[in-house]
Amino acid sequence: MNAPREHQPVLLREVLEALAIKPNGIYLDGTVGSAGHAREIVARLEDGLLIGLDCDPQALARAGAALAEHSAKVRLIHANFARLDAVLDELQIEHLDGILLDLGVSLTQLDSAERGLSFRLEGPLDMRLDPSLDTTAADLVNSLREDELIKIFRDYGEERYAVRIARNILQERRERPIKTTTDLVRIIERSVPARVRYRGRIHPATRVFQALRIAVNHELENLQRALEKGFARLRPGGRFVVISFHSLEDRIVKRYFKSLRERAQIWGPITPSSEERVQNPRARSAKLRVAHKLC
Ligand SMILES: C[S@@+](CC[C@H](N)C(=O)[O-])C[C@H]1O[C@@H](n2cnc3c(N)ncnc32)[C@H](O)[C@@H]1O
Repeated sequence: MNAPREHQPVLLREVLEALAIKPNGIYLDGTVGSAGHAREIVARLEDGLLIGLDCDPQALARAGAALAEHSAKVRLIHANFARLDAVLDELQIEHLDGILLDLGVSLTQLDSAERGLSFRLEGPLDMRLDPSLDTTAADLVNSLREDELIKIFRDYGEERYAVRIARNILQERRERPIKTTTDLVRIIERSVPARVRYRGRIHPATRVFQALRIAVNHELENLQRALEKGFARLRPGGRFVVISFHSLEDRIVKRYFKSLRERAQIWGPITPSSEERVQNPRARSAKLRVAHKLC
């Protein structure tokens, strides 16, 4: 197996410019991950504070190690960013100067076979970013009705062969439960035409894996909640910075920021430079949008 790829923060310079960090400000990184962005934010704080959230306890441990020398200026909390208002209430913090959401998963998570996030690695069909969630991808695949699976594959994956894939899943699970990433990849490969299987631009399992991950982790609902709650907690002059990696997320951010037109100045989408795209494959589909709260 290949060595795990190192996580590099995407659009780092652009994020720092967009946040325009005040040395005594209070910032929330809702997706602290390996602290690639957080480390640079904290380095610009004097009396300020960085609150780092992650729903994955393993990511939070990595962030803790990366930020150890700045621990006086950092609070790391295991929480979903959809609950950011409850976290701020617990910390007795009313207003923020800036919020960052760098959506999705890190390469470290993708390369951990036991998380079941990658169709390239054999592992349990889990996909939960937060292991305290009740439902795994295997639970969905083995229990949902055909029409429910089709809806997930279409709505969250824009999957063209959703019907055939769902049908083959139902057929397979009548024989035996679908337990691993490889079980599912084999079913998908069987369901798509040979030209897609062998000559497609992306792996034929890409869209179904994306769709299941979104469903398992309630990613789109959580994003919508975090946008609304986060903007409400920004002080005038505060900045909301979001990096998205696929069109479903980007559409939600774009629409929500557009609805703020009277109350915020909106920038974006900002995309990575050609150098960054070459150097960091994860950056290729990134889009950054910013809302600068006026009142
Ligand atoms: C792309 S990584 C962030 C990387 C980070 N910016 C860095 O440079 O190291 C996304 C992180 O957000 C976390 N995450 C995804 N959805 C979340 C949510 N709804 N609430 C909290 N954390 C979430 C993932 O577990 C992952 O660690």
